[in-house]
This record gives sequence, structure tokens and C-alpha cells, in this order.
Amino acid sequence: MDVFEAIARRHSYRGPFRDQPVPREDLKRIVQAALQAPSGKNAQTTSFIIVDNAETVRQISTMHPTNTAMQEARAYIACIVDTHPEPIYEKHSFQIEDCAAAVQNMLLAITALGYATVWIDGWLRVKGHAREIGRILELPDEKTVRVILPVGIPAEDWEQKEKKPFEARACFNRYDL
Ligand SMILES: Cc1cc2nc3c(=O)[nH]c(=O)nc-3n(C[C@H](O)[C@H](O)[C@H](O)COP(=O)(O)O)c2cc1C
Repeated sequence: MDVFEAIARRHSYRGPFRDQPVPREDLKRIVQAALQAPSGKNAQTTSFIIVDNAETVRQISTMHPTNTAMQEARAYIACIVDTHPEPIYEKHSFQIEDCAAAVQNMLLAITALGYATVWIDGWLRVKGHAREIGRILELPDEKTVRVILPVGIPAEDWEQKEKKPFEARACFNRYDL
């Protein structure tokens, strides 16, 4: 699958997964795609915890009340950033951008390998969910789970949400929207 096909096929998946494990080899390949993402000043600030241990998967799977993919994932990839990021360029930290670039690479890799996922970020930031997952993963206080990806083989067909047309969001040479 070339990169444009992976971009076209990628979609958020919140449905059921097949009862099949995700081999470590594939999980490592997905995270390798994250490691190759760009980062501000090449600081490579995001780290990753791959969760494939049955008991840890079970603990995380009980947390989300409505998202079936979070409940049925065969593995999770947790993306870890500093709780209080230090500036790296003038007064700016790029940890969120670094993490987002890594996540997008993983979404495409997950799609290309025939798995599905959804970028879980907003949910982590309410009701202490990030803190609870941090506790399960034994994170020190100075580290925070910024994004978590449930991974599995999708049992249903889903599609990418409709996107606005090119002309509504892009233009050439001057702002003309
Ligand atoms: C920064 C960010 C945070 C997100 N947080 C969540 C989340 O907490 N829960 C969830 O189900 N989806 C989350 N999503 C997925 C979006 O809802 C999804 O990308 C959007 O609806 C478009 O659908 P698509 O991914 O199929 O194109 C998040 C996406 C991004 C980029």
C-alpha cells in the first residue's frame, strides 16, 4: 500500500476487533514508524509503551464506557510526554507537535498493516483517565500519557469521516477562503 492509499484508507475505528492477537513484530514496526517521525530540533521527545500483556490490556480495556475499540483492543500503544515540558527553542516546547507527528505516522502504519485504531487524546484529559492509565503503566509523575492507540484487526468496515472540499480549506498564493 503506498502512502497516498494509506492516507485515503485511514479512519478512526471505534468498533469491535477480531479475536486475534497483534504480533509483537507488527507492534514494533508500527512504533518504528513513530520513531522515524520528525520532531522539533530532532529532540525525539515522545516515548512509547506498547501494551500487549493480557492483564494490563484487561485493566485498560475496562476504562472506556462506550468505545468498543478501547474495550476490545488486543494491544495499546501509549505515547508519553513530559508532564511539564521544558522549552527547546526560545520559549517554546514542541512536545505536543512531536507527539502528533509520531501518532500520525503510526495511524498510517497501522492502516498499511491491515489493523485499525483511533487517536484517543481528548478522553485521556478528562476525569483523570490519563492519570489512571499512568498509574497502570507505572509512569513517574514527570511523565504523562498524551495519546493512546487501541490496536486490533477490525471486525467491521468503517470509513473516514467526510472531509471538506479542497476549495473550502486550501488556496494558492494568498488567503482566499
Ligand atoms: C487531537 C485529537 C484528539 C482526539 N481525541 C479523540 C478521543 O479522545 N476519542 C475519540 O474517540 N476520538 C478522538 N479523536 C479522533 C477524531 O474524533 C477523528 O479523527 C475525527 O472525528 C475525524 O474522523 P476520521 O479520523 O475518521 O477522519 C481525536 C483526534 C485528534 C486528532
